[in-house]
Parts: sequence; structure tokens; C-alpha cells
Amino acid sequence: MSKLLVINSSPMTDNSNTRELVENFVNAWKIKHGESEVSVVQRDIGRTPPPHLDEVTIGSFYTPEDARNDAQNQAISLSDQLVDELEQADAVVIGSPMHNFSITSSLKTYIDHVARVGRTFNYTDNGPVGLLKDKQAFIISARGGRYGDGSPAAAMNHQDTYLKTVLGFIGIEDVTTINAEGVSSGDQGVQTAAAEIDTLLA
Ligand SMILES: Cc1cc2nc3c(=O)[nH]c(=O)nc-3n(C[C@H](O)[C@H](O)[C@H](O)COP(=O)(O)O)c2cc1C
Repeated sequence: MSKLLVINSSPMTDNSNTRELVENFVNAWKIKHGESEVSVVQRDIGRTPPPHLDEVTIGSFYTPEDARNDAQNQAISLSDQLVDELEQADAVVIGSPMHNFSITSSLKTYIDHVARVGRTFNYTDNGPVGLLKDKQAFIISARGGRYGDGSPAAAMNHQDTYLKTVLGFIGIEDVTTINAEGVSSGDQGVQTAAAEIDTLLA
């Protein structure tokens, strides 16, 4: 049984391009790998955003488990759960709307909860090393404008570029990106991305 972790980060419930494309992806993934062979875990941070890190939570990250107080244990429990989900997944698909040239604030906060020293990365004599190994990730993004390689706006894209950096930092280096671009100008960007998903998982 392989585990697919599905992370949606659009605050929109109706009319979300990324939610629609992520649903396409999950359906195609089940057909490709066999429905009975796939277990899907949904983490909807668009509908239920994690809280921003506060002082107690950050303190809990840097306090050994057996020395944490009750407030720290409570504060760290969501982060532990989110890291457990990532650790247990064989593959992760992330729906990422572009907001102000980057990811949504809920997805950034999610990353703050899962990029954890001692859990998902460690510092070594050779620099930081990611601890999540042998996982595939798929980023499905949507953007009103166009930021493709070589385009005039490419340098303003801090979305999938940033996500790839963070995923690599925690050890996930096998990352495929599918971008629905120019969605404010019509349906073509979503249709092209949907076709890319079909081809990828044919
Ligand atoms: C608050 C907000 C900020 C946005 N910022 C950008 C942006 O910087 N660049 C861009 O190309 N599109 C931007 N958009 C358009 C979205 O990327 C686009 O609507 C996309 O479909 C959002 O994904 P969703 O439909 O899954 O929510 C923004 C939309 C919103 C609501």
C-alpha cells in the first residue's frame, strides 16, 4: 500500500483552480497505481490553516522531548502530527495558489511547522542535511499571470521555486512541478495543466 499525502492550500473552496487540478491528480494517481493499493491522506490547510509559530511553539522545537512542559507539549503536537504525515507518505501533492508572487500564508505557516531540526533536517559538519528520503513531491500551482522560464516576470516568481528549495532542504529532491499559468486570462492555463497531469500519470 503506498501513501499519498494531499495538501490543499487554497482558501477558496468553490472555484479553486488548484483544488480542481489536485483532484484530477489524485484520481489519475489512483487509476495508475490501483485504487486498492493507494491510501490517501488529506491535509487541508486552506480551509484549516495552522497557527503562526509563537514563542512557546518555537521553544518546544528546541527543547528535548523529555524536558518539555505542558504548554510546550500542547504547542508542538500539531507540528508532530504534520511531520508524521510527511514521514509516512511515499508521495506528496501540494496545491499551491500564487498569492503576491509567492505561496499562500497558510502554506508558509505549514512549512514553518514541518521544517524542524532533528525531525526533518539536521545540521552536520558538512552543512544541513534533509532527513525525509525516498519521497516524490508534486507541486500543482495556479497563477493569474505568466512567470515561465525566460519570461519577463520569471524573476518575480517566488512560488514553486521557493517550494522546491524548502522540499530539497528537508530531503525531498524528486519534485515535479505543474503550473497553470495565466488563469486570469481564460481557461487555457488550467486545461494545459490538466493535460500535463494526464500525460504524467498515463
Ligand atoms: C490574494 C491573492 C493574491 C494573488 N496574487 C497573485 C500574484 O501575485 N500573481 C499572480 O499571477 N496571480 C495572483 N493571484 C491570482 C491567483 O494566483 C489565481 O487566482 C489562482 O487561480 C489561485 O489559485 P486557486 O484558484 O486555487 O485559489 C492572486 C490571487 C489572490 C486571491
